[in-house]
Amino acid sequence: MLKPTKALRSGLPPGPKGTLIGGVAEKFGDGLLDFFLETAQTYGPVASGRVGPNRFFLASDPALIEQVLVRDARHYKKHFGVRAFIPALGNGLVTSEGAYWRGQRKLVQPAFMRARVRRYAPVMAAITEQMLDAWSPGDQLKINFEFSNLTSQIALKTLFDLDDAGDRQHFTDTLNLAFDIMMARLSRVLKVPLWFPTPETLRLNRAIAELDRTVLGFIAAGRARERSGDDLLSRLLAATREDGSRMSNRELRDETMTLYLAGHETTALALTWTWVLLSQHPHVEDKLAAEWARVLGGRTPRLEDMERLPYTHAVLTESMRLYPPVYVIGREATTDLELGGYRVKRGYTVLMSQWVNHRDPRYFPEPERFHPERWEDGLAKRIPKFAYYPFGGGQRICVGNAFSLLEAAIILAAAGQRFRFRVDADADLRFKPQITLMPAAPIPVTLEAR
Ligand code: HEM
Repeated sequence: MLKPTKALRSGLPPGPKGTLIGGVAEKFGDGLLDFFLETAQTYGPVASGRVGPNRFFLASDPALIEQVLVRDARHYKKHFGVRAFIPALGNGLVTSEGAYWRGQRKLVQPAFMRARVRRYAPVMAAITEQMLDAWSPGDQLKINFEFSNLTSQIALKTLFDLDDAGDRQHFTDTLNLAFDIMMARLSRVLKVPLWFPTPETLRLNRAIAELDRTVLGFIAAGRARERSGDDLLSRLLAATREDGSRMSNRELRDETMTLYLAGHETTALALTWTWVLLSQHPHVEDKLAAEWARVLGGRTPRLEDMERLPYTHAVLTESMRLYPPVYVIGREATTDLELGGYRVKRGYTVLMSQWVNHRDPRYFPEPERFHPERWEDGLAKRIPKFAYYPFGGGQRICVGNAFSLLEAAIILAAAGQRFRFRVDADADLRFKPQITLMPAAPIPVTLEAR
């Protein structure tokens, strides 16, 4: 809350001006990552700008980020970018707010405790091996699609116990259609409301209705099962509030869709960018291969192996430092607040960018260098909490972080023991920053036997 005694600097923090009407709107495209970094480097720990009529602050000091995500968290809500996906996400953990969010988080979180997600290690490994069995040296693949299919398959198995390839395809096709339309709407300033029939809103509403039918079908099947399974849906079906009540079908639909959407593409991107970095740094890849040979000797990775693969974890940590799958998060002030000595008015958005913080030379010397060894002697404990935050932080920290770290380590080790991924020399490796750090074009690789 704004403390009346605190002396506030008058006016806005310094920042790029842009044009009279759009402000810096044109920067919020393909050049967004450079724009964030240059803004923080030029204007300091709190910068400000405008996108059309909307004012934003870019906070880039770890202490200020902690203030927004932890200390003042109750005076902020999620920003507009997240709300654009409500048609698909519904009122699940990513989009919900306030007391409702808190209650749902309490119901969902136990299913994601480290001890419980560990049970999914064999499923993650088995689905990965299945994919690898279908590959041969010399194959040419687009790795972002391959990892996205793989993590989607793992998500649908662990969420709904879904094995059937036809059901899987139907679900992902419908979702992709809805997602493309929502992304197109996000980039438009004027949006036709969903209740107004245009060819686009009709297509989106049809896709969402089909998605609802499909997920409600999974839920009905979960309820009908005689014995509760080990999938996440079974755990959510059994989760009970203090007053004895359980989640409704609608709530289950929103939470499971949210978990699917928040979880699979992010992990797939972490793996994709890790392989791009490894193909550019063969000495790191050799060191990894030596760790796998020593610990696994060619067999499928198991849960017990995880703590004996420190270099594998360091590589993933370093890859998410340089190329964080979620590169920016935002919060909208729900009341007037203070940040870095400036007034954040109600309705302003505060942006915090992992892309920026993870390149801060105070904590990461030679920030552009891919150097997993930097994590080896306890760096994570020596730097401020919000110098490195690929999973966000505070009360809304990623609920799936233990799940995704386990999944990424298993996939990396299983795949890397069998193949080298040679990224084609002429591949376009630029980013297309959307909600997540997508590649600008599919990333072509050729497989080599290890
Ligand atoms: C490398 C993989 C992942 C990354 C980088 C990542 C990143 C993040 C970040 C940064 C946030 C916070 C967003 C904010 O504060 O505005 C978040 C929230 C969330 N993530 Fe993840 N995530 C990953 C994997 C997963 C997985 C596997 C799941 C589920 C199975 C998941 C489910 C969620 C949910 C439900 C939230 C919202 C939590 C809440 O607000 O209570 N994520 N994630």
